[in-house]
Amino acid sequence: MLEPVKIGLFGLGTVGCGVVNVLQRNTNELTRRAGRKIQISHASVRNINKSRLCNTQGIVLTEKPMDLVNNPDIDIVVELIGGTTRAFELVMKAIKQGKHVVTANKALIALHGNEIFAAAQAMGVNVAFEAAVAGGIPIIKAIREGLSGNKINWLAGIINGTSNFILTEMQQKGRSFADVLAEAQKLGYAEADPTFDIQGIDAAHKLTILASIAFGIPLQFNRVYTEGITQIHADDVQYAEKFGYKIKHLGIAKQSNQGVELRVHPALIPERCLIANVNGVMNAILVHGDAVGATLYYGAGAGSNPTASAVVSDLLDVVRTLTVDPENRVPHLAFQPNAISALPILSLAEIETAYYLRLRAIDEPGVLAKVATILSQGGISIEAIYQHEPKTGQKDVDIVLLTHKVKEKQLDKALNALEALPDVVGDVTRIRLETLDA
Ligand code: HSE
Repeated sequence: MLEPVKIGLFGLGTVGCGVVNVLQRNTNELTRRAGRKIQISHASVRNINKSRLCNTQGIVLTEKPMDLVNNPDIDIVVELIGGTTRAFELVMKAIKQGKHVVTANKALIALHGNEIFAAAQAMGVNVAFEAAVAGGIPIIKAIREGLSGNKINWLAGIINGTSNFILTEMQQKGRSFADVLAEAQKLGYAEADPTFDIQGIDAAHKLTILASIAFGIPLQFNRVYTEGITQIHADDVQYAEKFGYKIKHLGIAKQSNQGVELRVHPALIPERCLIANVNGVMNAILVHGDAVGATLYYGAGAGSNPTASAVVSDLLDVVRTLTVDPENRVPHLAFQPNAISALPILSLAEIETAYYLRLRAIDEPGVLAKVATILSQGGISIEAIYQHEPKTGQKDVDIVLLTHKVKEKQLDKALNALEALPDVVGDVTRIRLETLDA
């Protein structure tokens, strides 16, 4: 049997220790699959004296990550420190030393992936990033390899567990936003900066990566329309249910001849869809290919063991490719680097969806007629309407509408007109509605 492959780990926190535990627990299976032993020989940590969630016997610990980069015995480094400054520096240096890289860092890939992959290509090394999207769900492999016979038309996913956990608890238990967020942080689901979760940034990182490997376009994080769940009101969750919908936070990527839609936002989705019933911290991604139709991938999107599952399978992949001619490896972004498409990213104004609208209006004759007139003058067709009786002691009523599909710019115009009506109180709430039809 070949010599063991030596691995250097940057970071021995929750995920790092998960990786150590999985490698120790499954040594037999992994060696049988890889054809040689995978051994974590070194790990860099911030504080060498801290107690750990794993057995570090046999692993040389250091507080200097560059020791790993400069160690010629280490074949593969695993980056689990997060962030985009130090992590980027270390990954680029490791690549320049001819080391292969495995990372769980979605921000790093979404923001710097184009540069990282170009450097890796030039050095003939691999950068594997399955754990960066949807934790333990092998979605990168599914799209990049399993569906490679297809033209991918679109994908839509629940790719932030923290947001899904918060929306589920609000919907099922009527809990407050702040209360559920605190619990998600305690359980270790949320990012170090939880605004990344609730403002949609974490999901935008992941969508950037998924869109690139689905459509063969460069990583373009700054072109993703990004909206989080902070504006979702408990009333909207209840009204959506009356119409037969659930509110989920989605990442959506679609390609057409005109260009690519890249958007992250809350959406009403029909409750009959399987994905509408993905609850708690779980993730799920629907991918529609022209040959296969709709496919659905479901599983744990965060946590020590699920993320370690993806990191370790990347390690196995890299170990297997150590002997493969670099030209014949699976390309980082699924398509050959010289065949990346320049398809434009469409502006949100041009995107067409249906909408859920909620407005508060003074309960007087003729108000509904004025609302309907503005919408019809804007070419917006109403699919359903619901007016709630005034709550005790209040003069205002909620009017809730579902529209047919319309361009975002048309809707913007109508909303301005609605908000200018003296009978309408405050801003109109707008949530996009996705039927997720094949
Ligand atoms: N904060 C992320 C989430 C963790 O809630 O999904 C996994 O990327």
